[in-house]
Amino acid sequence: EKGGWSSFMAKEISEEPEAVAKTILGRVEDGLVRIPELAGLDDDTMRAIDRIIIIACGTAAYAGMVGKYAIEQWARVPVDVELAHEFRYREPVLSPNTLVVSISQSGETMDTLMAVKYAREQGARTLSICNTQGATIPRESDAIVYTHAGPEVAVASTKAFVAQITATYLFGLQLGQVRGTLTPEAARELVAELQSVPEKLTDVLANGERIRELAGWMADTRSVLFLGRHVGYPVALEGALKLKELAYIHAEGFAAGELKHGPIALIEPGQVVFVIVPSPRDENSLHAKVVSNIQEIRARGARVIAIAEAGDVAVLPHADEVIRIPLASRFFEPLLAVVPLHIFGMELAAAKGLDVDQPRNLAKSVTVE
Ligand code: M6R
Repeated sequence: EKGGWSSFMAKEISEEPEAVAKTILGRVEDGLVRIPELAGLDDDTMRAIDRIIIIACGTAAYAGMVGKYAIEQWARVPVDVELAHEFRYREPVLSPNTLVVSISQSGETMDTLMAVKYAREQGARTLSICNTQGATIPRESDAIVYTHAGPEVAVASTKAFVAQITATYLFGLQLGQVRGTLTPEAARELVAELQSVPEKLTDVLANGERIRELAGWMADTRSVLFLGRHVGYPVALEGALKLKELAYIHAEGFAAGELKHGPIALIEPGQVVFVIVPSPRDENSLHAKVVSNIQEIRARGARVIAIAEAGDVAVLPHADEVIRIPLASRFFEPLLAVVPLHIFGMELAAAKGLDVDQPRNLAKSVTVE
């Protein structure tokens, strides 16, 4: 039940901190990750994995893209992310040391299910990250790591997304621990930061007023662009998807570095652009590059709404609006930065008088190919 909320989506966004906390619960021991459900994939098997392919659709695929960056960084295994419907029909190259990780909230998405079956037939190992106990995809997989976001009713996926990222992180951390690519100290530090995310998410939700106001004023907007880099890039894609499916507004997400390779031609006066700004403490100086992207689009008349960490003063003179998120190191930013975008999509749809739980033409679970 909606329990006093205006929509299931509003309720489910409010449950994002809990979704992360519950997905971590019972999977950390002595400060390190130990996922009991992975016992079936013994350490030798984990060490023998030489390639990971994440298959999923929609929002789950964006969670997979975030997971790719983390797993590669922590476990030093190459990771590809493939849309399930593309994977299945192009005869991908698989081997017994390929681990195919499917991500699905419902566990019933036909495209993803068919891809998992195909991977198994080809001799790959399969791991299912799923939010629905006993669903078909986990039953068809060699191992299962459930996300514990609780039932998600609104068609637009929100709390499942943050839980999916959390699950891929737990997996990546355990893989890094087993393979020795993460020292116990480094792993402990990352685990502790992951455990601090729910509280930070509660802060983000408590500060949602400004993004609500902005959405309320933008009911007539025709097009919104989203830019991000590194793990902020899939967050940009997720922000755009939410706006399309909920508010029926043309929206596109781009990797910020791609701007000068084409999309900057779209920028004209009044164009609204969300920019997910990496932390100024980022060791690869991505922050400076994204701030310079903001200057480029602002010079062409765009209206920039930046999502930036608390205390990032460098972004202030360049953006029209800054939505603040708590301090977090680079891998934990997407979990925080996505929440204002979830709120924005929902509120803009509501401002247009649309049904946020049941957008037109969409089903919660796509059980046909
Ligand atoms: O149940 P699944 O996670 O497999 O669903 C995948 C997509 O259909 C789903 O994420 C879809 O993109 C959402 N409506 C996005 O909000």
